Amino acid sequence: MIGKDFISLFDLEPEDLKDLLSLAVYLKKRRAQGVRESALAGKHLAMLFEKPSLRTRVSFEVGMSELGGHALYISKDEVGLGQREAVEDVARVLSRYVQGIMIRTFAHSNVRKLAESGSVPVINGLCDEAHPCQALADMLTVLEHFGRVDGLRIVFIGDGNNVARSLARACVLLGSSFVLACPEAYAFTERDQAAFGEHWGNSVVQVHDPDRAVAGAHVLYTDVWTSMGQEAERDKRLAAFSGYQINASLLAKADPSVKVLHCLPAHRGEEITAEVIEAPASVVFDQAENRLHAQKAVMRLLMADDRDEVLAAARAEAPIN
Ligand code: CP
Ligand code: NVA
Repeated sequence: MIGKDFISLFDLEPEDLKDLLSLAVYLKKRRAQGVRESALAGKHLAMLFEKPSLRTRVSFEVGMSELGGHALYISKDEVGLGQREAVEDVARVLSRYVQGIMIRTFAHSNVRKLAESGSVPVINGLCDEAHPCQALADMLTVLEHFGRVDGLRIVFIGDGNNVARSLARACVLLGSSFVLACPEAYAFTERDQAAFGEHWGNSVVQVHDPDRAVAGAHVLYTDVWTSMGQEAERDKRLAAFSGYQINASLLAKADPSVKVLHCLPAHRGEEITAEVIEAPASVVFDQAENRLHAQKAVMRLLMADDRDEVLAAARAEAPIN
């Protein structure tokens, strides 16, 4: 059973991720039916942002409101995490006011520290190491387009970054295979490789030739080459990744039924062309929408008082095999 927080998919068991997917499908369907939710009425989510955001900020805020609760946006300059005030103190103070904290920050250790020091659930809305909410929405999108989340070949072309790492772990948990096609200098680290355990070299692999990687792929995925906080490395990264763009020519080498995913924001003309974003194979806006449904599932499970009841309903209505 999923614990107090949602920080990294490496903390989860396969059943936890399947439960979250079931619940996301269930909540998405109820929203389409016009059901008004009230499970988080009277509850508050503090959202701490040390990096910019469109999707994460809006989907958490709207999601919280749709569940009957309220979200507060707190910018980097207001809190000064670890500078104006120790992370531990921020956690303890916020725990007196709100029933959940979402944080987007740099160091993964800040997210852990917040969770250990506070008494309320902490949700990782992206850090340098992980983007678990994104991977949950990604697998919801995959489920909708393929009718399953196991037995698929998901090929990530680009940087072995936070998004790639979380997605690879989601694939491991759900029984799909993950291929990272990247320049050698931007591969998964030895620490990452160890975290994949027996799956490393089997269902999780890395290669350096994108043309060969796309063969047999069900999904082609990419993310920016320069992540937030790496802006000073931009020129070096542009050069290193130049052969790793998802463009029409690469897409033509994949199966015609392949789907293209991107967590967004996209740097059109860098990691992906505008033509591919607009191509019928692209499902990037379904994927962006699914951040809302995925995170509502996370908040519903972590912050509401009726976890067992809602999980039973979701498992019955939308089982994930
Ligand atoms: N994909 C994603 O996390 O988008 P934002 O940075 O806009 O939140
Ligand atoms: N890897 C990107 C993802 C943005 C959603 C970053 O960390 O900036």
